[in-house]
Amino acid sequence: MNQNPPPAPRPAYQNPALPAEERVADLLARMTQAEKIGQLGQVAMFSFAERREEYLAGARAGQWGSRILAESAWAGNNPEPALDPAQLNEVQRAAVEESRLGIPLLYGRDVIYGHRTVLPIPHTYAASFNPDLVEQALGDVAAEAAADGVRWTFSPMVDLVRDPRWGRVIESCGEDPFLTSQMAVAAVRGFQGDDPAAPGRLLACAKHFAGYGGAEGGRDYDTTGWSENTLHNMILPPFAAAARAGVASMMAGFHDLGGTPSSASQDLIRGWLKDGLGWNGFVVSDWGSIYDLIGHGVAQDEREAARLGLAAGLDLEMTAGFYERNIGALLDAGTLPEAWLDDAVRRLLRAKFRAGLFDRPYTDPALARTLHCHPDHLARARELASQSVVLLKNQGGLLPLAPTLKKVAVLGPYAEARREHLGSWCLNGRPEEVTTVLDGLRAAAPGIAFTTANAAFSDALIDTARQAELTLLCVGESHLRNGENKSIAELALPPGQEELIAACGRLGLPLVVIDFSGRYLPSPAAEAHAQAIVHAGSLGTEAGAALARVLLGEVSPSGKLPMTIPRCTGQIPIYYNRKLPAKIAPTCATYRGYEDERLTPLYRFGFGLSYSTFRLANLGLSSGTMPPDGTVQFSATLTNTGPRRAAEVVQLYIRDSVASTTRPERELKGFQRIELGPGESARVSFSIAADQLRFYTANRRWELEPGEFRLALGTDSAAPFTHTLTVTGTPEHNAKT
Ligand code: GLC
Repeated sequence: MNQNPPPAPRPAYQNPALPAEERVADLLARMTQAEKIGQLGQVAMFSFAERREEYLAGARAGQWGSRILAESAWAGNNPEPALDPAQLNEVQRAAVEESRLGIPLLYGRDVIYGHRTVLPIPHTYAASFNPDLVEQALGDVAAEAAADGVRWTFSPMVDLVRDPRWGRVIESCGEDPFLTSQMAVAAVRGFQGDDPAAPGRLLACAKHFAGYGGAEGGRDYDTTGWSENTLHNMILPPFAAAARAGVASMMAGFHDLGGTPSSASQDLIRGWLKDGLGWNGFVVSDWGSIYDLIGHGVAQDEREAARLGLAAGLDLEMTAGFYERNIGALLDAGTLPEAWLDDAVRRLLRAKFRAGLFDRPYTDPALARTLHCHPDHLARARELASQSVVLLKNQGGLLPLAPTLKKVAVLGPYAEARREHLGSWCLNGRPEEVTTVLDGLRAAAPGIAFTTANAAFSDALIDTARQAELTLLCVGESHLRNGENKSIAELALPPGQEELIAACGRLGLPLVVIDFSGRYLPSPAAEAHAQAIVHAGSLGTEAGAALARVLLGEVSPSGKLPMTIPRCTGQIPIYYNRKLPAKIAPTCATYRGYEDERLTPLYRFGFGLSYSTFRLANLGLSSGTMPPDGTVQFSATLTNTGPRRAAEVVQLYIRDSVASTTRPERELKGFQRIELGPGESARVSFSIAADQLRFYTANRRWELEPGEFRLALGTDSAAPFTHTLTVTGTPEHNAKT
């Protein structure tokens, strides 16, 4: 009886028991050049219904490595259709079960700060100074997106920003590299977890590599001119932090950096990131940023653009098809080494194995129903939103709202807004699921009559304010005026809102101005007329409920500014970690900076008020000197000297007194969010080690220069320098040479 032939042995790359690198090597060795080039392409499958057969054929042919789940290049600004896991499974099945090698597609999407549950935007949640909570909340977001079939998110954005006119400041964590790094690591860990192959996890993507936030004039896509000193000391550290945290991918940018488009920068991508850091992830272009090399005037045509991109080390091309159409010819002409193609494919395959795609390529469509807007997710979103609210002014303790109040007017464009709270990078959030400010207050304080008026009629609004004991005026720019390709020339509230604030102010009744703008804006009218000013920001799905907890005093505000607020546009750029002009020293008393404006900002980095008061005392340094391999403890006692439980953010700043290059007036090197009951105290301690004092020196290397460092502990960036630490030893470069 003829025996059935034994089944062919399963190829090594399909064996989940083998180490990923072995599976990568085995699969790469089996691939044709066309299949390798196919892995470097990402397609946007627009109009899927009409072009379904075309797309399925492409997947079967193994022509694409990835698919971006978006209907436009400005996904965040335009409404996006909900995802259809069944459609994603259908295309994936064509790739996995019908192509020659069965390499799965990597589905990527802009899950920036939410899916169905939408968190505060990053520029708002950065004010929480609570990376642990951000990590947990983004873990919830990852679970919701993964349930819909997403396996890779184009987040976190870790661009450092000093010009708030730039619309994409709303995606950033502001002007400080340390805070941005902490939030970058939180996001990578939140999205990826310990194992991105685990259900509910996504591959993360740090972007935009590197320096996009320096767009001249705040104009999106404009050229950037970061100095080498600033690039290495300020711009690159958050990318290094994300790389150390194991981020699976990075995205290059649209911008030109000092003459080289970031998407064609061999120095940065192949040099600093891949060779210098030894990072083994993959780099994706931004949408069409390889195509843009022609627009930058550095590529004559698409073939040259494709060559420049791959030569730079850019592994996956988002949407333009230049790699797909040109890399074969470039290789055949000998203008690109095959090794560069193999390196790119190896990195992409490594990521797919890391994401568990070969062993779990499909999604269970039923999952979404149980995970989307899960009560635990909404609760965490609400807590993060409450901690992200910044109290800027509170004359006479007007806030929290007194329980004796009977009639409070809730007015202005944001009083009953919904979609606007979801920010300008929201693809799956549903406005109808947002808690409005009015609903949040009414649900939390049924004993107070919260009245409102049609925001379209300012006379009705003023009339309603006149009849109330206090007005909460809810203003701010909406998602329509920030985000990608949405910058402003004048850093101010949208038209008419200053006048509205002044009109309410002239009633002479208690006025609270609440700004929901995604960025931190100065408001002269609020400064002049409001007894209390609150920056709420874009708070997400739970906006109204989260804000009500703060306004009614269930929790005290604890948010701290992640970005300096200028007094006017003319002061930009103005940021705390600046190089002090030598002339500003005491020897030059006449230095004013401007003839027509003060030198100080309206509100400084790290600032935020509380409903309680705190005292920081008994500061102590474990030792005034430290060897290069040493560590010292800088501690203080924090006491809640006020009437209610509240959290304070203690911040550690250092200044490098004398160095081989000019150094910032101060740099944030640590922060701790401490919650205390009235009268309670806690010892707060920061470890300071040499690694935190290293910087990119005149030797163009990241190294430690012994010498004197001034230390400050405080609750914002005005903390006084009280201690000095002397690091002994010889400069590392001497030790190395
Ligand atoms: C956009 C953005 C980028 C985003 C990508 C995909 O143009 O620059 O941040 O992730 O394209 O939507």
